[in-house]
Amino acid sequence: MKSLFQMLLSLRLQIIYFCYFIAIILQHVSSKSLPNNETVPAVFVFGDSIVDPGNNNYINTIVKCNFPPYGRDFDGGIPTGRFSNGLVPSDIIAEKFGVKKVLPAYLDPNIQLQDLLTGVSFASGGAGYDPLTSQIMFVKSLSDQLDMFKEYKKKVEEAVGEKKREEIVSKSIYIVCIGSDDIANTYAQTPFRRIQYDIPSYTDFLLSEASKFLQELYGLGGRRIGVFSIPAIGCVPSQRTINGGKHRECLNSSNQAAQLFNSKLFFKMKALGKEHSDARFVYLDSYNPFVDIIQNASKYGFNEIDKGCCGTGDIEVGILCNPLMNTCSNRSDYVFWDSYHPTEKTYYVLSSLVLDNKIKDFF
Ligand SMILES: *[C@@H]1O[C@H](CO)[C@@H](O)[C@H](O)[C@H]1NC(C)=O
Ligand SMILES: *[C@@H]1O[C@H](CO)[C@@H](O)[C@H](O)[C@H]1NC(C)=O
Ligand SMILES: *[C@@H]1O[C@H](CO)[C@@H](O)[C@H](O)[C@H]1NC(C)=O
Ligand SMILES: *[C@@H]1O[C@H](CO)[C@@H](O)[C@H](O)[C@H]1NC(C)=O
Repeated sequence: MKSLFQMLLSLRLQIIYFCYFIAIILQHVSSKSLPNNETVPAVFVFGDSIVDPGNNNYINTIVKCNFPPYGRDFDGGIPTGRFSNGLVPSDIIAEKFGVKKVLPAYLDPNIQLQDLLTGVSFASGGAGYDPLTSQIMFVKSLSDQLDMFKEYKKKVEEAVGEKKREEIVSKSIYIVCIGSDDIANTYAQTPFRRIQYDIPSYTDFLLSEASKFLQELYGLGGRRIGVFSIPAIGCVPSQRTINGGKHRECLNSSNQAAQLFNSKLFFKMKALGKEHSDARFVYLDSYNPFVDIIQNASKYGFNEIDKGCCGTGDIEVGILCNPLMNTCSNRSDYVFWDSYHPTEKTYYVLSSLVLDNKIKDFF
């Protein structure tokens, strides 16, 4: 026999569920429609600081940015833990799939069931495909992020039942955006991995970690999976400052490592798609659009490509980009917000270049 309490709880959940359904219908009426009138219940994101909406606020690491001037253009100036002046690609992508405008951090203790049902980001700034990358920064590794997703599934099943949980998991969009820190921090800046691996063998190792992750995500029910390639990480301001010589040129070795990894990832994803014909594995090229933005900056209305908006723009990121720093007067002139992360404007341009003609491939 169900107790009265259980019945009330169940009724309450049904009401929440009903409201959620109405909200989804209303959202889809107003957003542009997806191929074949498909609907996407939720968007889930795994990765690093490019798509971390504030998970690192709740873990013990120095890789944080929940203080000004971060968030300067977020809803009137709220530092949420997003590594930018405003929204980040995880938010922009959730909107492109017609789900919601802001994708919350899974670890946010104030998160509501409603938020969970339409998707969250598990990403953690500083993380990498290489477990050592995440470990040296004390952040959530990819396997930690998968553990959070397992916990997520349990919570949602308890709240809305197995059938609904199954529908959310199988029909949602999964985005993976990670790998820059493996090359920029672990390989180019610290000696550990360089001693152990040359670039070809390090990118093989990263690929094997990526492949393991994608297989596990498939095993947990993900069917519509998009993976961003690694951008031209050698061209971010901090890499130019540290390794680019007197003229602060792009660090070619980082760019070559990214390109080598990307070509391996491309073929791996093709193979995964063949192996699992009930799933979509969508390779999302961010390398070339990123180079386009930097080389053709004026085409997109930018005129500062090699300095961040925060401080001198050469080196400030995370705690070095803090309330004591001046920021540039016009953020829409700048490709980069700090010495490592793009501005919101760049993220909008980049997300469109990367994703707009790939959305159909998820269905
Ligand atoms: C999508 O929905 C619209 C409106 O209901 C309908 O006219 C159209 O034929 C549908 N398209 C597909 C591919 O099902
Ligand atoms: C990187 O490669 C470009 C093009 O091949 C070249 O012009 C540039 O000088 C190289 N930069 C460095 C720092 O070696
Ligand atoms: C720069 O823009 C031109 C013209 O649109 C284009 O042909 C070229 O490929 C772009 N450069 C890069 C690196 O994408
Ligand atoms: C800021 O920069 C953008 C792009 O270069 C430009 O269109 C805009 O007029 C500038 N705004 C101000 C206040 O200077």
